[in-house]
Amino acid sequence: MDYKMALADVLYDQLKDHLKKSKLLNMIEIPKFANMGDLAFPCFELANIYRKSPQNIALELVQNVELSNCFQNAVAASGYINVFLNKSEVSSRIIQEVISRKEKYGDINIGNQNVITIDFSSPNIAKPFSMGHLRSTVIGNALALLSEKCGYKPIRINHLGDWGTQFGKLIVAYKKWGEEQKVRQNPIKELLKLYIQFHEEAEQDTDLNDQGRLWFKRLEEGNEEALELWKWFRDESLKEFSKIYTLLGVNFDSTHGEAFYNDKMEQVVHLLDDMQLLKESEGAKIVEINNDSPPCLIKKKDGTTLYATRDLAAAIYRQNHYGFVKSLYVVGNEQTLHFKQLFEVLMRMGYTWHEGLMHIPFGMMLKDGKKMSTRKGKVVLLEQVLIDAINIAKKNIIMKNPELEYKDTVARQVGVGAVIFHDLKNDRLNNIEFSIEDMLRFEGETGPYVQYTHARASSILKKGKYEESNEKFADITDDEAWSIIKNLMAFPVVIKRAFNEYDPSQIAKYVLELSKAFNKYYGSVRILDDHERKQARLSLVFAVQIVLKEGLRLLGIEAPKEM
Ligand code: ARG
Repeated sequence: MDYKMALADVLYDQLKDHLKKSKLLNMIEIPKFANMGDLAFPCFELANIYRKSPQNIALELVQNVELSNCFQNAVAASGYINVFLNKSEVSSRIIQEVISRKEKYGDINIGNQNVITIDFSSPNIAKPFSMGHLRSTVIGNALALLSEKCGYKPIRINHLGDWGTQFGKLIVAYKKWGEEQKVRQNPIKELLKLYIQFHEEAEQDTDLNDQGRLWFKRLEEGNEEALELWKWFRDESLKEFSKIYTLLGVNFDSTHGEAFYNDKMEQVVHLLDDMQLLKESEGAKIVEINNDSPPCLIKKKDGTTLYATRDLAAAIYRQNHYGFVKSLYVVGNEQTLHFKQLFEVLMRMGYTWHEGLMHIPFGMMLKDGKKMSTRKGKVVLLEQVLIDAINIAKKNIIMKNPELEYKDTVARQVGVGAVIFHDLKNDRLNNIEFSIEDMLRFEGETGPYVQYTHARASSILKKGKYEESNEKFADITDDEAWSIIKNLMAFPVVIKRAFNEYDPSQIAKYVLELSKAFNKYYGSVRILDDHERKQARLSLVFAVQIVLKEGLRLLGIEAPKEM
């Protein structure tokens, strides 16, 4: 039930000569403080039309309006009409809706099963999975889940960085200094070492860079030795990455990385040429964008292709293959220019679907206020972060609940959930300070806090031997319960907004609010003691449990029943 709409309906009866219903609906506000009502309608804009003061208009409206039974009353105050919902009517309705729909509560079909491709995670082969890739992974995964909730069909794409000059360099380094055994034992660490060594030595010996370029050219031309090494590096890296994906519970529909487009680029280059978009500049091929952006580089002097060339081919392939209505790229904000160029070139090529392309940028992960970088060994390896988080969670569990049965499973759910929540509770674009201690606190704005609240709700239901039934729950009118009900009511609205703004942090903030409201209720109302109200109160607890679990699920976080 949409109470804003219900209010707009009754106000419209009074105001239809001067206002459209859609306009009226937009004017309705939600007051900041509960004592000012549940909905408010400002009368200031009407003052000119009626040639009366807003205060008087509010007074008259309050007298004349005929409220439907979901409303309790309306009062005029300083130019506003403050409207109070009928608590018992509304509570009963919301609780019934949540309990009957369960995890489907909040589903909204705005997507009509149209496809959204989501390019996320996308780490680089032979390099460690960095914090930036973690951010992309958890944000992208949450956006996929949210889009599904909104009736779209998400296609999760891991656009692996598995092509480019660096693989030429890596082949050279491996042939010169590499040892097969070591790479097999510890692929990412060894390959990174070789890569770093290459850069150090190349500072003295510039010939190395030429060799690197040569080997990449060979790779692009299908040289067997180059291909074999490349494939080996790729397989070993993927094995390591998939450990992280398993821990995070993230899956992909496609792991076509940059290499996949190797045989699809020539066609794109031809097309650009035919359209006379391709220009020569110092031996390279470029597409000019506009005066204030640098041109998009399509081919280097030596004929090899670039990151942007592969992204062009990828976008066209994805449109042909999946027919997306939207295509999201969840990539750090340092690549803003790259995506601007990419989208502009596609627009110039005349593809109308370019409008569905969207860069979803995010801020950096900082450690002690500084960027975490891969090159200088300063990097925190992600797998280690997850393992540390799981270990700390396990210690906490042993301390708080030594009897708990599946300690290892719960420790994984809590540890990993903490890392994900710490990332997603922040506005996407903000930089985040990395702190494993903060993430794992059971109090405050953390994943474990929300999970703990969910577990608490589960345990009350168990203790109270709650059984679902279809009776009405009309006697829930405590103030603390009301703030829970209002939160429950907001869930579908928050989902829609979070999706429209590509902003999972709104879901994270929402589950925090709901948890706070619930814990306040828990602290002040003895849920199981009042025999008469027990069933009604437990049904409220059940509704909270359902929505917390679903909210966490949308963030990619599990909700254990006990912890
Ligand atoms: N591999 C790239 C990096 O780590 C990210 C790729 C993002 N996706 C894309 N289609 N360009 O920086």
